[in-house]
Amino acid sequence: MGGRWAVAAVVLALLVAAGPAAGKKEKMCDKGWECKGPSIYCCNDTITDFFQVYQFENLFAKRNAPVSHAVGFWDYQAFITAAAIYEPLGFGTTGGKKMQMKEISAFLGHVGSKTSCGYGVATGGPLAWGLCYNREMSPSQDYCADNYEYPCSPGASYYGRGALPVYWNYNYGVTGDGVKADLLNHPEYLEQNATLAFQAAIWRWMTPMRKRQPSAHDVFVGNWKPTKNDTLSKRLPGFGATMNILYGDLVCGQGFIDSMNNIISHYQYYLDLMGVGRESSGDNLDCSEQVAFNPSGQTATS
Ligand SMILES: *[C@@H]1O[C@H](CO)[C@@H](O)[C@H](O)[C@H]1NC(C)=O
Ligand SMILES: *[C@@H]1O[C@H](CO)[C@@H](O)[C@H](O)[C@H]1NC(C)=O
Ligand SMILES: *[C@@H]1O[C@H](CO)[C@@H](O)[C@H](O)[C@H]1NC(C)=O
Repeated sequence: MGGRWAVAAVVLALLVAAGPAAGKKEKMCDKGWECKGPSIYCCNDTITDFFQVYQFENLFAKRNAPVSHAVGFWDYQAFITAAAIYEPLGFGTTGGKKMQMKEISAFLGHVGSKTSCGYGVATGGPLAWGLCYNREMSPSQDYCADNYEYPCSPGASYYGRGALPVYWNYNYGVTGDGVKADLLNHPEYLEQNATLAFQAAIWRWMTPMRKRQPSAHDVFVGNWKPTKNDTLSKRLPGFGATMNILYGDLVCGQGFIDSMNNIISHYQYYLDLMGVGRESSGDNLDCSEQVAFNPSGQTATS
């Protein structure tokens, strides 16, 4: 008798653990190296289905020009290899094809604007110069702050490096934990390994920086419902909120400042080149009136 009750209790526990989704079973898929399942996201197109090497070359046309600062460093293969780690989690694999292409344009829009050496009269236009840098060129300091959890490694300098540049010892520490690389002791990895640099950037895009906060991915693809506080702070789903999450009040809540406009311009330029078109930029494109999710100095990039 006792035995039968114990069995019943186990069955009940399993049903509870399976939760509300137990009734309607989600289809799971595996697409091999690019989207290792089982994951619902792997049932959709993968990034290489709609974003190919010629498109990467198109978006970052000037990155290997002689005057660029990271010639030969960035390539398509590094991006796809890094992206494959996050495709089972929904990176570039959420929603329909149009949303997938938009997310890649949005993510790369941030990357392009942060790594650009384009300026007003640059050949090809100022937006053709994304991935010109892989590091800050003339750092004015070591970006080392007192931190109990992530103390600076002797001799290391934590200037901006990567595809969404990482600054400061504590941000190298957190990011290193995220990508399972010892970036605190080896910040230079981010300027030596393009796959790792893209991986760190996609990790940043996919990961909420605080408990109960959305990731940039979440606010962009529609996974996030603003609270009343968010609405009062003008934070709404869309590209604008991705800038809020990545840069906070360095870029947002200050009207239509150049640094914000520049990121939006890259996003829209890439939407056009991808064939999606800037008319599909989506609602809440800017963050000119948004209050920062996190106050200044507390974001992982700056
Ligand atoms: C997969 O794509 C379809 C449309 O093509 C979309 O409706 C669905 O939400 C996508 N699946 C996921 C998990 O995003
Ligand atoms: C570069 O980083 C990737 C991703 O973390 C890793 O798999 C690879 O081994 C690294 N390459 C080198 C040469 O260290
Ligand atoms: C809403 O915002 C107020 C003021 O900024 C804050 O004190 C409160 O904790 C917030 N509530 C939630 C649920 O985040």
